Amino acid sequence: MPDQAASLRLLAQEKILGKRETPKPETENYGPIVVAVTSGKGGVGKTSLVVNMGLTLAQRNQRTVIVDADLGLANVEVLLGLVPPYSVHDLLFGHKTIEDILVEGPFNLKIIAGGSGFQELANLEQSQRTKLIEALSFFQNKSDFILIDTGAGISRNVLGFVAAAQEVVVIVTPEPTSLTDAYSLIKVLAKFKIHERVFLVVNQAINEQEALLTVDKITFVTNKFLQNMKINYLGFIGTESIVSEAVKNQHPFVLMYPSSQATKSIAQITTNFIFLLGKDNSDLALNKRGGVRVFIQKLVKLFR
Ligand SMILES: Nc1ncnc2c1ncn2[C@@H]1O[C@H](COP(=O)(O)OP(=O)(O)O)[C@@H](O)[C@H]1O
Ligand SMILES: [Mg+2]
Repeated sequence: MPDQAASLRLLAQEKILGKRETPKPETENYGPIVVAVTSGKGGVGKTSLVVNMGLTLAQRNQRTVIVDADLGLANVEVLLGLVPPYSVHDLLFGHKTIEDILVEGPFNLKIIAGGSGFQELANLEQSQRTKLIEALSFFQNKSDFILIDTGAGISRNVLGFVAAAQEVVVIVTPEPTSLTDAYSLIKVLAKFKIHERVFLVVNQAINEQEALLTVDKITFVTNKFLQNMKINYLGFIGTESIVSEAVKNQHPFVLMYPSSQATKSIAQITTNFIFLLGKDNSDLALNKRGGVRVFIQKLVKLFR
């Protein structure tokens, strides 16, 4: 697809991707870890993971913000049964502040709806870019994790978020098309030196054996062809009727079914993630590499 190739070249030309300089963290304020949750193929469970993992982090007293950067139908707000009155669009083009567009969920979880705001990133005036940077910097001292629900695939829009984020979680199902699309995405991240590691979650596996087989397939080709890329497996979620039920009822399963297997899986995935990020909470800060301010500056640069 020539369109995609052109946008990938553009992305690669950005100095920011050529050498991912690590900004020296300010001594007092590292800011949050910004995590893009993405997938090669759509409909694999990104939004469900973001919402339930976000709630789990929040429940563990991690100040967590979810940013909905996907224009898809079953979005973060729908899954949480919330109706945000405003979005990033109103921040950029209206007179709304970050506090106006912020919606609060359970356990002080914060949700920011992108609306059509992020679609406009490439067409913003300098003053609007500054406005966006200043607005999102609000979270620099007020959050530990920012989870971004991106769209699927390797479009410029998705890759922009993935490239600007400090960590990436890729979600995959055992389906062959999901696997090949996930690998294509990981390949782009490795080839253009966007990231050196990704975290992997397997969703909708029949059992652990199928999940591990899926992980094996991805790690095998990655180790063979993408030497500069590491896959960190976080865990799997089985195919469970309560997951789709929770989506339909607009009530996240970690709240609705706290003792379900799916909730236990999310808990394990979250524990593994925190562990792999920095071993323990005291070390987490060292991983934060500039927080939300650096993220949003990179994002704005990537779309200029
Ligand atoms: N573990 C699971 N078990 C059963 N159904 C699932 C599971 N994960 C996702 N689903 C179903 O897949 C649909 C798509 O999930 P969603 O999180 O919206 O995917 P994405 O954000 O990647 O498009 C959900 O509406 C849900 O019905
Ligand atoms: Mg989604």
